[in-house]
Amino acid sequence: MIPLHKPYISGDELAYVTDAIESAELSGNGKYTNLCQEYFRDHYGFHTSLLTTSCTTALEMAALLSEIGPGDEVIVPSFTFVSSVNPFLMRGASIVFADSETQTPNIDPQSILKLITKKTKVIIVVHYAGIACDMDAIMKIAQDQNILVIEDAAHAQGAKHNQTYLGSLGALGTYSFHPTKNITSGEGGLLIVNDEKFQHRAELLWEKGTNRKNFLLGEVNKYEWWDIGSSFYPSELNAAFLWGQLSHVDKVNNRRMDLWKVYAEELSNIPGIEVPNIPKYANHNAHLFYLKAENNNLRNHLIAELKKEGISAAFHYLALHESPFWKTKGHSQLTEAMNWQHCIIRLPLFYSMTEDELDLVIASVRKIMKG
Ligand SMILES: Cc1ncc(COP(=O)(O)O)c(C=O)c1O
Repeated sequence: MIPLHKPYISGDELAYVTDAIESAELSGNGKYTNLCQEYFRDHYGFHTSLLTTSCTTALEMAALLSEIGPGDEVIVPSFTFVSSVNPFLMRGASIVFADSETQTPNIDPQSILKLITKKTKVIIVVHYAGIACDMDAIMKIAQDQNILVIEDAAHAQGAKHNQTYLGSLGALGTYSFHPTKNITSGEGGLLIVNDEKFQHRAELLWEKGTNRKNFLLGEVNKYEWWDIGSSFYPSELNAAFLWGQLSHVDKVNNRRMDLWKVYAEELSNIPGIEVPNIPKYANHNAHLFYLKAENNNLRNHLIAELKKEGISAAFHYLALHESPFWKTKGHSQLTEAMNWQHCIIRLPLFYSMTEDELDLVIASVRKIMKG
């Protein structure tokens, strides 16, 4: 089978992990954690970023920092992964699901506008496939109404809105380094703190609610409990692994982009399927390649037939407002989110994909569409 994805391995990881083991610095917030965070500061301009154990825990930190609680409403796209929502639900917020755009699976600013009430405190945006949401429109809505924007940029490492890295436009942003992402640390994530007012508190929460950072810097002679917090940062082993990937990230994203472009060119103008529609402001990172089939039957047929050819294809996501957990809780009609749920199909895309594999997938999709 040609898999849907394969994690990228640079070959440098083992040396850094071995170094971490030999230095006996195994817990978190050490040399490799700092190296990774400095990388994002120097290359992406992220003033403060904190490595986390996952994108999910980075979003849990974002929920704590936004001081969300009962009575507050959070607008979030229905077409996303559960981790965009759970952290806010865990804090007692009311979740309000928004619809997707017609042209992309991203949250539709017009849908946001219709859902805002006096209780709206946070808007979560998800840059699906690393394709930027319409951030000019969303930031304007949020600024006009004094609402916090949090970017779930789980897919979007290295992708930009015009020339600005995704994750750095809202007050807070998050990345994922899960093995399905362009680069990985096994499990891992990043919290990007853009609004300075959150910086100090973010550092406390990250250190389990203590001022250990000031202690390590020699600013205080003991560290104390100042806030709530949790064990949010990864071990140095994961950070060392990520460090073994970071210096290769441009090479990885460029190779993925080459593959992505061939797909987009070769599969355009086929009746019944559409290639991704990339807005002008979106400089994406080729995180995944998807097609939109004209209906659910065709999408399912494509997945089944590709499987017979030895090709893994998948759908992703299931709209959350229709999930077993949510569907009895009430929501408005979200036509586009359902459309994407029914019609999207993802094709294999990974760094080590060969030209032969790419050709086979393209030829198979063409053959099935002809049939
Ligand atoms: C949009 C989105 N947010 C959050 C996550 C969670 O990421 P992680 O597995 O790093 O916690 C995912 C996972 O793929 C995701 O797709």
